[in-house]
Amino acid sequence: MGGKSDIRLIDENGIRIDGRRRDEMRPVRIEAGVLKRADGSAYLEWGDNKVIAAVYGPREVHPKHLQETNRAIVQYYYAMAPFSVDDRKRPGPDRRSTEISKISAEALENVIFVEQFPRTTIDVYVTVLQASAGTRCAALTAASVAVADAGIPMRDLVAACAAGKVEDQVVLDLVKEEDNFGQADMPIAIVPKTGEIVLMQMDGHMTLDEIDEAMDMAIKACYDIYEIQKEALWKKYERLAEEEVV
Ligand code: CDP
Repeated sequence: MGGKSDIRLIDENGIRIDGRRRDEMRPVRIEAGVLKRADGSAYLEWGDNKVIAAVYGPREVHPKHLQETNRAIVQYYYAMAPFSVDDRKRPGPDRRSTEISKISAEALENVIFVEQFPRTTIDVYVTVLQASAGTRCAALTAASVAVADAGIPMRDLVAACAAGKVEDQVVLDLVKEEDNFGQADMPIAIVPKTGEIVLMQMDGHMTLDEIDEAMDMAIKACYDIYEIQKEALWKKYERLAEEEVV
């Protein structure tokens, strides 16, 4: 959150720098089952964000001391490709990716039937190929489709979207410039079937009323994301069925 700037992020007609209205999400496209070697995978484009997710498991835990006797552990590896941002991103984990990985693993543990697979790990690798804000939501949305694509039992998918505050207005799904120069960014992830919130963070400041409005916007958007996620999985199974017929 860079605070005030001379750049106008929302014009007098309420139009944002990329042409969207306040409550409009960037276009989202998801394809399930894009990698042959992974047990499950998904490719996602969310505006200028491009993300690929690969899931392996349930499989043996290494090192062994990490294993849990009564459930599977979820290990989530969020990574940004060096070429995904303007300045080259130094490869390897850093504080930000460690934090994103931790909270995303916790979000997924809420929907995976981990107790069915004691002593195993479910490894989720998400690489951001191109970043333009909202990548933790994009990554978690793709990861959730990849876990389902791996055939791992889940009680539902997890859908994520951010809302925030730009030029004193609550807006949905901030783009990079809005994230850099705006006042707040609040990523949210939900379990759509129950409406439970499994991830919520905030960078910046909003009033309680603004938080309410931002939450409503983000949650509504999560339900739109959920439809796109399910559609991607349906398409994958249709493709499989067609291949079997041939
Ligand atoms: O991506 P997300 O909004 O979940 O996380 P963030 O930490 O708020 O980062 C916002 C954006 O800053 C990212 O999506 C990237 O576009 C950019 N960024 C960057 O350019 N270089 C980094 N090392 C980290 C983030």
